[in-house]
Amino acid sequence: MKTLTITKPDDLHLHVRNGAVLKTVMPHTARQFARAIIMPNLKPPVTTVVQALIYREEILQAVPAELDFTPLMTLYLTGSTTVAEIKKAAESEYIHAFKLYPAGATTNSDSGVADIKAIYPLFAAMEQLDIPLLIHGEVTDDACDIFDRERVFIDTYLTGITDNFPGLRIVVEHVTTAEAVQFVQEADANIAATITPQHLLFNRNAMLAGGIKPHYYCLPIIKRESHRLALVKAATSGNPKFFLGTDSAPHPTSLKESACGCAGCYSAHAALELYAEAFERADALDKLEGFASFYGADFYRLPRNSGTVTLEKTAWKVPPAYGEGELSITPLKANEELRWKLAKG
Ligand code: DOR
Ligand code: ZN
Repeated sequence: MKTLTITKPDDLHLHVRNGAVLKTVMPHTARQFARAIIMPNLKPPVTTVVQALIYREEILQAVPAELDFTPLMTLYLTGSTTVAEIKKAAESEYIHAFKLYPAGATTNSDSGVADIKAIYPLFAAMEQLDIPLLIHGEVTDDACDIFDRERVFIDTYLTGITDNFPGLRIVVEHVTTAEAVQFVQEADANIAATITPQHLLFNRNAMLAGGIKPHYYCLPIIKRESHRLALVKAATSGNPKFFLGTDSAPHPTSLKESACGCAGCYSAHAALELYAEAFERADALDKLEGFASFYGADFYRLPRNSGTVTLEKTAWKVPPAYGEGELSITPLKANEELRWKLAKG
């Protein structure tokens, strides 16, 4: 049997929510990843160090005892975030970044930032204190076509932020376009990007051709094939600016299969397997370890992990759902076959 063993990876962009759903999703992430950057877009959002430490404990409670997993916490930026909170976060060993959601851009972003320029003093503090800024890079202008929102964000906001704060470490989260890839490639070394499995594996036909498929709907929305190809090229290039961030985002099936379905793909059940499939298709399995296990840790200035995980070339069928009743989640590739399978540790 063909196998692939790599250093234990990290997921540098993950939603796990809180409450009962944690028990369903945490084992999926913790069995393959040593650490994950935890998104703060709860209801209400995680805006203070105190809240993040409480949330961190809740996450740890949901990790199976036999697994070793470290949540890396982030705080949600709002128009009322203070420089004092940024100082507290920078001093905490548990807080690793701030997340900027333009208000209204995506799930639970209502408390996000309506006027990005107005929080430039916060970016200055983050630059000075050397704590990274994670950006959901989409404009929220109703007049802007949803497929253009990432591209337009680059010219409208991102270049302004990188020009004004040249020392600020920034992750452009879940890049989905050739333009974002090019922006990150040409930017200084302190500008990086995460890439999700769904944006490497699928183009918008998967979501819209032959019927509307809500489980492929996430934000930023999946784009046309030329963009997917640019993302695959970046992810498999060995450029340390691009690293793994699943953006796995659990929503109950009933809220996805709806007249107004929520944005988010659940991929934690098979994250590494999905990435392996994308890298294998590009004939670049040798580049998976850097992308999954080294570059993200290096960017966040964390030690690289010491253990390993092994994938086996064994086909398996993804179940139709995880979790019970109203909280049940439909995973990416539900009822479909995957080519790689995580070996039991
Ligand atoms: O599709 C998405 N879902 N994109 C995001 O930015 C947020 C996420 C979520 O929290 O569900
Ligand atoms: Zn996200």
